[in-house]
Amino acid sequence: MSIWSGDSLRTCFSFVVLAFFLTFVFIAGVLQEINKNRAINQKIDFPDFGHYNGNFIKNIPDSVLPIDDQRKRIIAIGDIHGMNNSLTDLLDEIHYDSKRDSLIHLGDLETRATIHDSIDVLSFMSSNRILGVRGNNDQKVIEWRAWMNWILSQPGGREWLSVMDKRWPNLDGDKRIQRTELEKWVETSRYASWKKMVPVGWHPLGKHYRVARAMSPGLFEYLSSLPLVLHSPTGHMVFVHAGLLSSHPKLQVSDPRQPLSHWPTMDDQHGISNLRDKQEVAVLTQIPENKDPWTVTNIKSVTDEGIVSPSPKKGTPWSQLWNDTMSKCSGNSGTNGGEAYQPTSLPCYPFTVVYGHAAGRGLDIKRWSIGLDTGCSYGRQLSAVVLDGSSFSSATYQFRDNIHGRAPRSQEIDFGDNGQARIFSVSCA
Ligand SMILES: *[C@@H]1O[C@H](CO)[C@@H](O)[C@H](O)[C@H]1NC(C)=O
Ligand SMILES: *[C@@H]1O[C@H](CO)[C@@H](O)[C@H](O)[C@H]1NC(C)=O
Repeated sequence: MSIWSGDSLRTCFSFVVLAFFLTFVFIAGVLQEINKNRAINQKIDFPDFGHYNGNFIKNIPDSVLPIDDQRKRIIAIGDIHGMNNSLTDLLDEIHYDSKRDSLIHLGDLETRATIHDSIDVLSFMSSNRILGVRGNNDQKVIEWRAWMNWILSQPGGREWLSVMDKRWPNLDGDKRIQRTELEKWVETSRYASWKKMVPVGWHPLGKHYRVARAMSPGLFEYLSSLPLVLHSPTGHMVFVHAGLLSSHPKLQVSDPRQPLSHWPTMDDQHGISNLRDKQEVAVLTQIPENKDPWTVTNIKSVTDEGIVSPSPKKGTPWSQLWNDTMSKCSGNSGTNGGEAYQPTSLPCYPFTVVYGHAAGRGLDIKRWSIGLDTGCSYGRQLSAVVLDGSSFSSATYQFRDNIHGRAPRSQEIDFGDNGQARIFSVSCA
């Protein structure tokens, strides 16, 4: 009789199979872990979180311009930064009517008030499909959200984000998280290797991160659909968050390479309106600084060396350079060539920039630029410029909206070729 009975042979065989199976599972697990760690330990090849994709300049449709209908208005609002109640106050003060008025915001919709208020402002803008431009703070929120979507697609990413959410729950109201506490935790927890998944210089769990995390996919879509520049070729005006240059900062204003130093070549129609449109587009697309997303969302000044600066203390405010150049535009009177123009005048038509971002300078009205960031998030004011038929010489109706009569606190300013506009502000205390 064999010492191997049929039963024990079968049992032994089962053990061998089980052992092989377990070894296989173990090795596969180890390999997977090694791969995961290798992926994490490699230098991360981050995708593009910027979402600029083809959204640089958008045109404002002529249908929103108050030139053929005396009830229409355009209302451009400075940096709101989540100050939901102040936004409501301002819209009340102006008697905003969504049926006849078109709002345009100048970016930085969120991140200084509570997360809740920021989301409310974003929801208002998104659900009413409000026109606007991207600000530097909007950009940070977009980048965080794009990063989150990417992290969620990585193995283990979802778990990591939810562990952070649980450990640092709603920070709404907190001024800021203790950065060192967070960093210490990341270093000592089993998520130490995840540190590399955050781009250098980015700090998770701040306000931008929180707003990005709290946004619905619809709000993210709205925010990332905002262009950097809104241009109205018919209204001869441009909306941008921080600013634009009217000329190459390192060349003489009359240099032939400057878009405003000569008439554009006209291949088809020769109408003045076409000419102006071409020149405006040339300023927006041929000056390298105006094509740089960072510049148009951060510029405050230009140094004496012709370098763009985000600091208000260095060099000359870009709006002053803009106003100086535009003031030299003397239309197409005189000769057709550029040569006959004196250095003090340029063969161009001026156009207006409406912008925000420079809270330090407050309301900044120049003949050809309107700066509307009046520091609402610092408890100062939220401001808007209101354009109606009286703002545009091409308007069929030259009228005085009687709403202006009921708003003695507004300020009248010159606008465009020979029109007027009104500035409204509410207190943000
Ligand atoms: C924001 O404003 C809207 C409109 O006035 C209001 O319905 C909403 O409750 C406000 N949100 C907060 C958080 O105050
Ligand atoms: C704008 O430029 C014109 C012409 O150089 C000048 O007269 C005017 O004072 C400037 N406006 C402001 C507010 O700087």
